[in-house]
Amino acid sequence: MIDMLVRLYDLPESGEIYRKVEEQGIVLRRARAFEKHTVEDFARTHFSPKWVSEVGVALSRQPIACFIATKDKAVLGFACYDTTARGFFGPTGVSEAARGTGIGKALLFKSLEALREQGYAYAFIGGVGPREFYEKACGAIEVPGSDPGIYGDILP
Ligand SMILES: CC(C)(COP(=O)(O)OP(=O)(O)OC[C@H]1O[C@@H](n2cnc3c(N)ncnc32)[C@H](O)[C@@H]1OP(=O)(O)O)[C@@H](O)C(=O)NCCC(=O)NCCS
Repeated sequence: MIDMLVRLYDLPESGEIYRKVEEQGIVLRRARAFEKHTVEDFARTHFSPKWVSEVGVALSRQPIACFIATKDKAVLGFACYDTTARGFFGPTGVSEAARGTGIGKALLFKSLEALREQGYAYAFIGGVGPREFYEKACGAIEVPGSDPGIYGDILP
C-alpha cells in the first residue's frame, strides 16, 4: 500500500463534479457530531473496524473532518481527511450499490478543497488502494518509498 501526493494548487474546478451527483438527489455535506454512530455503523457494515476507528476520530473534531453522501436519510459514502495523519486524505468508501455514480470523486474533492482551505499546498492519499482512481480524479502521483509508510506494525 503506497501513499500518493496531490497538488492542491492545481485541482480542477469542481462545480460539475458536484452537480453530477446532486442531480441524482444525493446530498453532499459534512457529517455532524450527532450522526457519529450512524457513520461509524456505515463504515462497520461496508468496510472494516480500522475505518470505524478513523471515522470516530474525524467526527470527534470541529470542524468535523468527514464528508458524507446521503440519499433518503441513508449514508451512501464517506470521506475523512486530516485524520490518519495531518494532511492525509482517507479513509473513504462508497457502498457497493452506489459506486460509479460520481460519489467517490465528489467526496474526494470536498475533502481536498477543505485541506486547501486550511492552508495545505499538498495532500497525501494514505495507503492506496485504487491508484488509477486517484491518478485520474486528481492527478495524484506515488510517493517513492511510502510502502508500508506509516502503516507498518499495525495492531489487529
Ligand atoms: C474508490 C471508491 C471510493 C470510488 O468511488 P465511486 O463512487 O465508485 O467512484 P466515482 O463514481 O466517483 O468514479 C469517478 C471516476 O473514477 C473512476 N473509478 C472509480 N473507481 C475506480 C477504480 N477502482 N479504479 C480506477 N478508476 C476508478 C470512475 O470510472 C470514474 O471515471 P469518470 O470520471 O471517467 O467517469 C469506491 O470504489 C470504494 O468505496 N472502493 C472501496 C474502498 C476503497 O478502496 N477506498 C479507497 C481507499 S484508498
